[in-house]
Amino acid sequence: MALIREGMLYEAIISLLDDLGKPYATPSGFWKSSGRILVKFYKGFKTHELLMAVKNPVLNIVRDPLLYYRTAFKAESSGLTPEDYVVDEVSGRVFLRNAEAYLLLDLIRTVDHGKYSLFEYDLREIRVNPHIHLVLEPYSRCYSSLIEMIIYTTKIRARDQLSTTELETALRSIEYSYNVAVKTCMDNAYMDLANKIRKVVEDWLGK
Ligand SMILES: Cc1cc2nc3c(=O)[nH]c(=O)nc-3n(C[C@H](O)[C@H](O)[C@H](O)COP(=O)(O)O)c2cc1C
Repeated sequence: MALIREGMLYEAIISLLDDLGKPYATPSGFWKSSGRILVKFYKGFKTHELLMAVKNPVLNIVRDPLLYYRTAFKAESSGLTPEDYVVDEVSGRVFLRNAEAYLLLDLIRTVDHGKYSLFEYDLREIRVNPHIHLVLEPYSRCYSSLIEMIIYTTKIRARDQLSTTELETALRSIEYSYNVAVKTCMDNAYMDLANKIRKVVEDWLGK
């Protein structure tokens, strides 16, 4: 069973077909309000353009920070491969093979808010991935610290739209989460991801 509470911001990876008919996936927040699923996406990103055109995206419920990294930093990372996707040729819906569950959405309307659009969806179906074995791993801040780092790194990539204060806040947040990662990812391979993300930021800022 997948639980989506009303009025809580969740993170997922939204997937859909691009203008060339190829699968495309990007991290996105979402929340449920009065039974509808809402996605707030900033203009200027390809994902925004695709969400305006494609009415039936899928929200993939994913925990692995590596998947967030690969879909947020398509150019900087190796990105996803065609094998990472399953496409339903009839509906045109795109699914991430290794997601835990899927929210199948149907667009109701979009509301223009200037810098971003609010996409309102009907939640047609929640589908649990039948091929994923349930593995109960204890909660670790390693995962949340990495996802925090990735979120703030996407903000830094769009740094020309940030004020100096916002840029400083984003950098401080990355540093804070990096320190949590050092303590909690310890000598696991995920520590390499934390170092990689930090290096991407340093390269951008010419450090
Ligand atoms: C966990 C996570 C959640 C995100 N949520 C949103 C969101 O709700 N809205 C948004 O505009 N960008 C969000 N982003 C940033 C986009 O994913 C990021 O800008 C992405 O690279 C855009 O992809 P594109 O350039 O391929 O369109 C999020 C990033 C992460 C890592």
